[in-house]
Amino acid sequence: MLHPKQHLIESFRRWCRGRDPLLVSCAPGRVNLVGEHTDYNDGLALPMTLDRAVYVAVNDSLTGLHELRSLNYQESISCKPGAWPEVSHAHWATYVAGMIQELPPPKPVAMMIYGDIPLGAGLSSSAALEMAAGLALEKLRNTPIDPLQMARIGQTVEHKYAKVKCGIMDQIVSRVGRAGHALFLDCQKLEWKHVPIRNQDAQFMVIDSRVKRQLAHSKYNERRAECHRTLQSIRVASPQINSLRQIQLPQIRSLKESVLRQRLQHVFDENERVRQACSAITDSDWNSLGMILSASHESLRTDYEVSCEELDFLVTQAESCPGVFGARMMGGGFGGCSINLVRTENAHLAAEAVSAAYEEKYRYRARIHVLDKGMEAHAEWL
Ligand code: GLA
Repeated sequence: MLHPKQHLIESFRRWCRGRDPLLVSCAPGRVNLVGEHTDYNDGLALPMTLDRAVYVAVNDSLTGLHELRSLNYQESISCKPGAWPEVSHAHWATYVAGMIQELPPPKPVAMMIYGDIPLGAGLSSSAALEMAAGLALEKLRNTPIDPLQMARIGQTVEHKYAKVKCGIMDQIVSRVGRAGHALFLDCQKLEWKHVPIRNQDAQFMVIDSRVKRQLAHSKYNERRAECHRTLQSIRVASPQINSLRQIQLPQIRSLKESVLRQRLQHVFDENERVRQACSAITDSDWNSLGMILSASHESLRTDYEVSCEELDFLVTQAESCPGVFGARMMGGGFGGCSINLVRTENAHLAAEAVSAAYEEKYRYRARIHVLDKGMEAHAEWL
């Protein structure tokens, strides 16, 4: 099978009647080891990049319009520079046109996109698309863009055009993540540290439930709104508090509404779990890391209420397999993937057992990816 980048270059030539792309960029998807629903609360997170990415190939357009084509969707969209294409919020072209709108290239572009990140599985294919398109536009504009600024532009595209009020974790890790490292991310200071992972004897395994929830985006925005409401209630008595990151235990107890108490408890505990997970990774202490993952799942299931039946099933099944240190749902929730930490020698059998049990109960197969080292975003002239 052709490497995705090669496949893209060859397809671009066919699409542009023999012309080569001028440049190719790429940005990876991500997993999040722990630190879920903390980024938009100025909290901590610990994501790492996948070995799968979105690739973008570009040349000048010969039609005077921006010509956009997705190989994954086998679909082309054109739009006038400065105008907006007629596509829905969640359409792939929204992310590309949004980046073009925010970072207009000097001339109209012919841009082809191809990726090998499973789509809609909570592995941040949209953030990867934004960062890959952004890197290509950065080259065309010939002006360096600070990686944090690039991540912020991607987040703006999500808020303004895709109408998802996401945090900034996905864009940052896709843009600055390093192979073989997790990214300890402080979303208050907007600073990060690359944490090396030395895990020959343990592996991260992603299990895709293949549940795609239509409601996921609106539920995600609902959780954000609840966190905002929590902050407002706390600020009545403690106006000096500007984000949920500054909360202490007594303030959690002081909240009258039990739902808000639950949400806040999750955010508070999850930040602490990120700190602990960072030390566990540094010490290659997989037993502790596994327990942290499982505790995070419990908190997301009961306090934050963003899991679903299928994800709970995947996690419970995984945890009952020999060699599995811990497991949890990952990402925004209501579907998508679980992340599992498993002893390398047991990985194969654990994957088979979980997948068989899942198929027996839900009548379709869960998809399994064993993580390798992850990859880094880049762009190059050809
Ligand atoms: C989605 C969002 C992120 C983050 C996670 C939950 O992936 O894009 O910003 O909030 O959900 O941790």
